[in-house]
Amino acid sequence: MYGFVNYALELLVLKNFGLSVWEQIKKKAEIAMEGQFLVRQIYDDEITYNLIGAAVEILNIPADSILELFGKTFFEFCQDSGFDKILQVLGATPRDFLQNLDALHDHLGTLYPGMRAPSFRCTEKDGSLILHYYSERPGLEHIVIGIVKAVASKLHGVEVNIEIIKRKGEPLDDDEVERSQQIASSSSDMNLSNAVDGDGLRETNNNDEGKHCLSEPTSAIAGRRRRSATEILSKGRCPFASQQKNSQTSCANRTTDKNPSSDSNFEGIKNDGNSDNEFSSRRPSHPSIHLHESFDESKANECLRLWKNKSDDIERSDHVQFLITETLGASRTAQTNVEEKEPPDEVDFFCEGSLISPSTFSKIFPFHLMFDRNMKIVQAGKSVSRVIPRVSDSDCPLLEVLEAIRPHLQLTFENILAHINTIYVLQTRPGAMEKQERYLRLKGQMLYIVESDLILFQCYPSVMNLNDLTETITVSHPDINYNFEKQIVSLKSLQIQISLNP
Ligand code: HEM
Repeated sequence: MYGFVNYALELLVLKNFGLSVWEQIKKKAEIAMEGQFLVRQIYDDEITYNLIGAAVEILNIPADSILELFGKTFFEFCQDSGFDKILQVLGATPRDFLQNLDALHDHLGTLYPGMRAPSFRCTEKDGSLILHYYSERPGLEHIVIGIVKAVASKLHGVEVNIEIIKRKGEPLDDDEVERSQQIASSSSDMNLSNAVDGDGLRETNNNDEGKHCLSEPTSAIAGRRRRSATEILSKGRCPFASQQKNSQTSCANRTTDKNPSSDSNFEGIKNDGNSDNEFSSRRPSHPSIHLHESFDESKANECLRLWKNKSDDIERSDHVQFLITETLGASRTAQTNVEEKEPPDEVDFFCEGSLISPSTFSKIFPFHLMFDRNMKIVQAGKSVSRVIPRVSDSDCPLLEVLEAIRPHLQLTFENILAHINTIYVLQTRPGAMEKQERYLRLKGQMLYIVESDLILFQCYPSVMNLNDLTETITVSHPDINYNFEKQIVSLKSLQIQISLNP
């Protein structure tokens, strides 16, 4: 993860608890590093997880609360780091903002090469907004809650409630969720005595292999590293769980003396002294799987295998879903604003005939693509046809040449209509371009053309670096002049100078 994130965590601790606590956290996280985190450097994810785990132990605050608070501080840090304008233009309401969140992260990917940014998309349910969050990193959903609450409150003057309605690995079908919750609760009752120990893996011990791992596949991933993400976070939920059982010393008692929040002026979160209980009582349906230091890798791998195998035939969610509801007063204001913005009915926006010919349109928008309900390309811009010759064939399926990078969505006509206000990033499939190893990212907007029942993908090539730019320009515009190459060479040397003298 970029040091940008670690540095924000550092600031959070320094601001609220002071330098000595930060040093304690670093020591506990086994980070022997002088000075502060460099925002432009990529650090191993384990460092971030270790820091969070150590913060949970030292501050005696539950992991979820720390992550939420971190989200809030992270947002402020983004604003202070010069991203305030970009955050403001993302949308005037939380809804608009969240709909553009994916585009923001795609853009950030161009500023932070090698960033493994999360992906977001929005859907509606009974008038409320559902935010879908995709990340390859487990257990960070409470950061999203913290950021989204801060954005709504500070940028839009609106308070929002955010509820996690589906976690990664949970059955997609709600009946299945209920069934697995029942199994989980009955087996955790049954198997308390079967637990490895207070800090160990609680197995469901039912006879169905596929449900061995309960609903949290991420727990299985823990075996991959000595102290992996989930292990650290689940340990963080009650860092002293094993001692608690063995020595009858509670979490709170073990940490009271060194709990800096007791003598700091930190107002954000007060620990009730029973973080583990609080955690499990808040999520009765998802018993946290505590991992033991000696939890052996083969068991974890077996869990992962079983989960991947989906031998229970249950379709499981590959991401986290949040239900976001604005508080009453705010939604009334938002409603009024929408009403105010409504154009008068009598204005007619549509013209009778088309004003420009398809060939002129193709010249003006050389990278556009148009496709029908069967996802067959019916029209393509000049440059995109040159770069991906296959698109000029009649009835070329869009999915044969392109795949979706953002949003995280199966590309069907209906899905696109349901996510029409989103920025799309499509990438050529291997072999779609003439040179096997080349690929092209197309970024743009989907527009539904009512009259012809077609979707227009109005896009442009999205490049991640100067090499991409040179490749794209030379392929799509082979007649490009010599000056362009000269300009690229000088841009490259400028880039080297900037990276040498940041
Ligand atoms: C302009 C403002 C922002 C900047 C500069 C920024 C930057 C970053 C960076 C550098 C990372 C580390 C990713 C990596 O190194 O692979 C990150 C991660 C993350 N960002 Fe943003 N971000 C911004 C806004 C937001 C917003 C508004 C959200 C809202 C939810 C958000 C959610 C997250 C989350 C949850 C992660 C953790 C990584 C993961 O889930 O895989 N960010 N961000």
